[in-house]
This record gives sequence, structure tokens and C-alpha cells, in this order.
Amino acid sequence: MSSSYLSSNSSSPLTHLDLLAMKQRGEKIACLTAYDASFGALIDAAGIDVILVGDSLGMVIQGHTTTLPVKIDDMIYHTRCVTKTCKRALVIADLPFMTYATPELAAQNAAALIQNGGAKLVKLEGAKIEIVQFLVSQGIAVCGHLGLLPQFIHQLGGYKVQGKAAESAEKLLADALAIQNAGASMLILECVPAELARHITEQLTIPVIGIGAGGACDGQVLVVYDMLGISTGKRPRFSKNFLADTNSIESALKNYSNAVKNGSFPTAEHSF
Ligand code: KIV
Repeated sequence: MSSSYLSSNSSSPLTHLDLLAMKQRGEKIACLTAYDASFGALIDAAGIDVILVGDSLGMVIQGHTTTLPVKIDDMIYHTRCVTKTCKRALVIADLPFMTYATPELAAQNAAALIQNGGAKLVKLEGAKIEIVQFLVSQGIAVCGHLGLLPQFIHQLGGYKVQGKAAESAEKLLADALAIQNAGASMLILECVPAELARHITEQLTIPVIGIGAGGACDGQVLVVYDMLGISTGKRPRFSKNFLADTNSIESALKNYSNAVKNGSFPTAEHSF
């Protein structure tokens, strides 16, 4: 076994264990989406810790009104583009709609994202405990996603804050604990009240990354086109245009990373 197999340093690619150590040290984790090699390189160079190749690409790249039309081949293609240039950030890829309906299907599609796309973790939406357990048993690192679930949009009836009622808040906490107990390495919480997100973050030992979930999560994620103000739709309340106060994409990305790490983003204005 070569010694490089066992060693790591500050420029080594990050793993989920590095993120766990950041949570334990109280150090915030900065995350952005990316879908291509150029943004992969810029975001990585800005010191962002995690790049999510999200199925939001269905909306911001492909122009659909939801993420539902995204196919596994789209995700593999965009993940491969990002991993070509990303050196340090941990790359997570989304399993798109209906690609993890059974454990076998999930394993086959997760394997494709890892083997052909170069992803380190795969993300799936909802409390799919049996699926998470099966993927983990096959050696696949998993990121959960709770709260507003864009793949469930027709069931949810719109892009709304989740977990406002006591009963749904309790279910969110129970689901988050079940996903952690199933072996997930991370959790994304989307559009939930800030106080509930704080409670869930405190109860979980794995890192919790928020989007529209207040400032107490272990880290933050935004869709890169939203935070550069270049998305075609209305910017969501939880996002902020970081390009508005500077004149380069590089500094907008660095300012975002600094703002997440020093706790100045998000504020109450970006939370529910
Ligand atoms: O697809 C995506 O970009 C996401 C984030 C919004 C969390 O899932």
C-alpha cells in the first residue's frame, strides 16, 4: 500500500469525514451547485467545500419548469463535466426523479453517477430509509434531502415552506434521525423554519446543510445561478445576489464562501 493512500493534507480532495470534523469544530460548510467544468473550476478555486450537481439543472440549464424531466444520463454528463476540473471540493450528484424507486434501481443509478460521473456521494429526496440502507450496504455514500422536495412538487402542490405545523415538524425530525441511522453521511434541509432547522442540526451528528433553513445549519447551499443573479426566474427569498456588490464572478463566489463561513449569510431576511 503506498503512503499517499493513507495521507491527506489541506489541498487533498475533501471527504465526508472532513465535513464531519468541520461540524464537530463548529466550522461552517460552504456549498454551491455547479453543472459544468468552468463553474466547477471557479467554485473549487473559491474554496467552496462542496459542489452539488443538482437536478436543479433541469430548470436552470434545460429550461423546464420542474426538475422532473431530468434523466440519469443528464446527471452523469453534467457530473462528469464538473469532476473534470474540481480538485478539492466534495462532489455530490443528485439521483433524479424515479431513478431510486427500488433498491436495485437506486444502486445501479448511483453506481453510474460514481463510476461514469466521478461523484463521491449521491443525494436522494425524502425519507427513503430502505434505499439509503441498501446503498450504504453497497459502499455508496449518501446525502439525504428533506423539507421542500422538488421531485414531490405535484404532491406538495407548490414550492412552500415545510414543517410549519407541530406534527410535520416532528415528522421531519424523526425522518432526519432515521436517515442518519440508515447510514447517510449528510443531510440537506430545504425551506424549513429556521428554529426547526436549528433543532434538527443540533440533534444530528452528521452535517446538515441548509437552503432556506436559517443560519444555524452546519452549512449552506445555493443554486449558483441564483446567487449570481443570472437565473431566468424570480430569485427565491432565501437566496442573495452576491454578484450585485462586486464586479467579478470569482469575488462573488469568494464573498459567498466567506459569508457562509463567518455566519453573515443567511440572515433573517433569507430565512423563514
Ligand atoms: O437540485 C438542487 O440544486 C438541489 C439544491 C437546491 C439543494 O437539490
